[in-house]
Formats: sequence, C-alpha cells, structure tokens
Amino acid sequence: TMKGAIFDLDGVIVDTAKYHYLAWQALAKRLGFDFTEEDNERLKGVSRMESLRILLEIGGIEAGEVERLEMAEMKNREYVSSISKLDPSEILPGAREYLELLRGRGVKIALGSASQNAAFILSRLGIARLFDAVIDGTKVSQAKPDPEVFLAASEALGLRPSECVVFEDAAAGVQAGKAAGCKVVGIGSPDILHQADRVIAGLYELI
Ligand code: BG6
Ligand code: MG
Repeated sequence: TMKGAIFDLDGVIVDTAKYHYLAWQALAKRLGFDFTEEDNERLKGVSRMESLRILLEIGGIEAGEVERLEMAEMKNREYVSSISKLDPSEILPGAREYLELLRGRGVKIALGSASQNAAFILSRLGIARLFDAVIDGTKVSQAKPDPEVFLAASEALGLRPSECVVFEDAAAGVQAGKAAGCKVVGIGSPDILHQADRVIAGLYELI
C-alpha cells in the first residue's frame, strides 16, 4: 500500500504547460523560427536550461553560456507574467479533492517538480498547505529523467521510494519515477506514458 504520494506540478496539478509553451514560442519567434506543439512535448518535465538546449537544437541556433542565460531569463519573465494571474480555478479537475482524500487516509504528500517557480504557483493556487514536503527546481541539480527529485522527495517524507507512488504527465518524469524505484501513475496518453505502471486521464479518475 502507498504510504507516500509524490506529485509533479506542471500538467498534473495545474495546466501550466500552455504558459510554458507560449513563452518558449515567443522566444523562438524572436530568434526567427517556429516552435510547434509537437516540439513542446519534448520539453515537458525537463528543466529550464535543458529545455532551452532542446529549443535551440530545434532552431539550429548556436549560443554561448551568457547568451543562453539571458534567453532563459527572457523566457522566464514572460512565463512568470502569465502565471502571476493564476488562480485556484486553474487547479486541474480532481487534483485538490485527491490531495485531500489522501491526507484523510494519512498518506504523506510531496511535490516533486523541476520548476523553480513551484512555490509561487502553489501559493497562487492556495494549496501549499496540502504538502508535507516540496522538492522543486531550486533544490535539485539533476533534471528528470534523473531520479534525484523523487529520491529527495521520498527521503523528505521519511519513506522508502518503494513506499511512494509518483504522479507524472511527462515521459521524462515517468522514467525518473521508475528509476527512483517508485510506483508510477502516468497522467495523459498511454502512447507517451507506456513506461508507467498505470495510466489515467486525470486525477479526477481517482476520487
Ligand atoms: C517542469 C515543466 O515542471 O518545470 C517544464 O514541465 C519546465 O516544462 C520545468 O521547463 C522548469 O520550470 P521553471 O518554472 O523553473 O522554468
Ligand atoms: Mg509535468
């Protein structure tokens, strides 16, 4: 039985993927190339700098370290300006109810996200108090599919990875969860998330 639940944020609790996409697309446009929704699938769950690396590869653009940091900052300013308007109505269907249900059953809950904006987003959504631990992009150095974020999250809950279930919408995140030794529930399409132990369409299926 599950003693701990570790949730990815973007795409699992809130649909911020569209804001990430718009911000990356704006950067691509400035750099003179198109960035499609299909390309964007590759960025899901991936850290900011790794996302930029993939984006520049798609655009066939070379850039040095300093320039890359400027580009990432430009993207983040655009992204932060969209998410400053986030409100609780944007919590994905069933997410709050499922978190509350688990808490009621005594299951420990952690966030396991690559985002450096995670704490800000949780506070905008008014659900920060539902988490026993928050492991995010400010606390880990290895991007998913590396298991670091989920290992750190289970440790923060005082549990073994095998006692925890990871909830993930990204292929890289599912891989990271499996590599950590957790059970993984994929949220989205079985075509993309086939490595998960189970795939559901949304957390509303579990309440
Ligand atoms: C992940 C998103 O949760 O966080 C990625 O799925 C994003 O798309 C990554 O790049 C890093 O987010 P941020 O907010 O630190 O740029
Ligand atoms: Mg995600």
